[in-house]
Amino acid sequence: MANQKGNIQEYISEKTREILVGRLSSEKFRGFLKENTRKVETMFTYYHCALMEVETKFKVLNEELSLSRDHTPIETIKTRLKSMDSLVEKVERCGVGFSVESIMENINDIAGIRIICSFQDDIYSLVDSFLGQDDITLIEKKDYIANPKENGYRSLHLIVSVPIYLEKQKRDMKVEVQFRTIAMDFWASLEHKIKYKKDIPESKSTKLVNELKLCADITADLDRKMQEIRQELAEV
Ligand code: GTP
Ligand code: MG
Repeated sequence: MANQKGNIQEYISEKTREILVGRLSSEKFRGFLKENTRKVETMFTYYHCALMEVETKFKVLNEELSLSRDHTPIETIKTRLKSMDSLVEKVERCGVGFSVESIMENINDIAGIRIICSFQDDIYSLVDSFLGQDDITLIEKKDYIANPKENGYRSLHLIVSVPIYLEKQKRDMKVEVQFRTIAMDFWASLEHKIKYKKDIPESKSTKLVNELKLCADITADLDRKMQEIRQELAEV
């Protein structure tokens, strides 16, 4: 909410724009959905199948790696299909055509899986094992652990293609895989909440951005130290 006199006009124009964009989006999208209900349902079902395939792969890796290690490398696995709202927003933002084919071609994160590990090293060995599987094709890799974003965000992102086997066909589906430590995930969840919380006064938001950056440095240190302790423990 604009709490300074000078910002009120800006705030109102921004809200008007949001409402207009929102109205246009839903009208355009309603038309598309009406003509393509079955196709959209099928598309989401295929992405759900791809998520199940990838989730199983990580569960299998976790089982096997826990045999040879003193701990299971994966703490939590979270899967999600992109919500309709967020899909429409991205289709509009990226200027992608309103067709199922175009959406599947251009939007890479309809199916998303997040792998949370305790230790940073486990992330890299899981990535290697996963990418080494012969039915997984790497499309894109972003290592925000080696190269954190300016706000302090750390995580390793992959876009991969995985085949799903249907009754009469095989389809290659794209899945976004995010790898984080518990500390990275803790930080990203809070940052996400702050980013999407409206009505934060500018003076406060600048302070929060700086404090979050500080927390990102602390969590990076924590990850390094925990890794070192684990290493020392393994050498005893
Ligand atoms: P999107 O259009 O949002 O998918 O971004 P992108 O195509 O540039 O991809 P990127 O790999 O940078 O980010 C993909 C996803 O990572 C986002 O949808 C978020 O889930 C997460 N992410 C990326 N940057 C940040 C960040 O600064 N903070 C938080 N909390 N999450 C982030
Ligand atoms: Mg995304």
